[in-house]
Amino acid sequence: MQLYRQLKEAILESEANGLISDKSEILTGFSGEKLTGTLQRFSKLLLNKDTCYLEVGVYRGLTLLSVAKEIGENKAFGVDNFAFFDKDGKNFGIVKERIAKLNLTNVEVINKDYEDALENLKNELGGRKVGVFFVDGPHDYRSQLMCLLLIKPFLADNAVILVDDSNYQHVRQANRDFLISHPEYKLFYESYTNHHPLNAHGNERIAFEKGWWNGINILVKDPENQLETMYPATHRDRSLYENEHAIHATKHPEVVPFLLKLTNAFAPIVYGFSKLKNKPKVLKGRFTEMNTYSEGLTSGSFNEGVQ
Ligand SMILES: C[S@@+](CC[C@H](N)C(=O)[O-])C[C@H]1O[C@@H](n2cnc3c(N)ncnc32)[C@H](O)[C@@H]1O
Repeated sequence: MQLYRQLKEAILESEANGLISDKSEILTGFSGEKLTGTLQRFSKLLLNKDTCYLEVGVYRGLTLLSVAKEIGENKAFGVDNFAFFDKDGKNFGIVKERIAKLNLTNVEVINKDYEDALENLKNELGGRKVGVFFVDGPHDYRSQLMCLLLIKPFLADNAVILVDDSNYQHVRQANRDFLISHPEYKLFYESYTNHHPLNAHGNERIAFEKGWWNGINILVKDPENQLETMYPATHRDRSLYENEHAIHATKHPEVVPFLLKLTNAFAPIVYGFSKLKNKPKVLKGRFTEMNTYSEGLTSGSFNEGVQ
């Protein structure tokens, strides 16, 4: 229980003060300050010479290098295949430059697809276990779930897992599916906003940047069953996941992403004339893209088992 209290304090401190030290001018990216501060504090608390920090989703190094600069000689690893948000192919180079500018010698970037990296992790970590695991890579349902499943053999006994972008309903579903099938892990903390920060403007957007960015789920190992069972909220209707089967089995599934914008244009016609089951009752308030379905969820709740 002592460890859980310390984790709770680290979260509360990050909520109050953000990063441990002033945000470096060099480090920019897509993560909130409460989140980055929590990654730093958890890593300081949990890491030792036998354990390390690992993240999936490095982008330009904001979270990876913010942690690396606070953990002394302990090691930080980041996995990214630099396949997204990188149309000029510059991000890996930017991360390497930033590592040099910050004089960091405790960071390694694993330039691979997350599945190739996590399936072969024992060759990468030099015998270390993972003390803090941060999931911020591909956000499709299967990748979110696979990140949790593939990391299991490498986690230290007191490991914590932070899942970014948990505002998304399908990310919460992957976390819930993992938690319900692995009762030895518990949801420790959750925080959401009503929509994705990229659908927010002005002061609201600034608040998201200072906060958790796009929702967070924090999972801990709880082998002694000291914490309460708790799951992130999800929709009971699973038809969107079932639709994946129809997409996989169609003749040209590769083309589907190119047609997504058309679905917004054709939706009113389809809703009007088809026998579509589960037509949404309310469309007002939906955005063209990046809908999270997180309206009205908690802005911050701890597992009730931690005092
Ligand atoms: C939102 S960014 C990460 C933000 C970063 N943590 C920060 O602090 O700024 C997501 C990253 O995940 C990476 N990514 C997406 N799919 C991936 C995959 N299949 N394997 C490895 N990395 C992937 C992208 O290349 C992108 O750099």
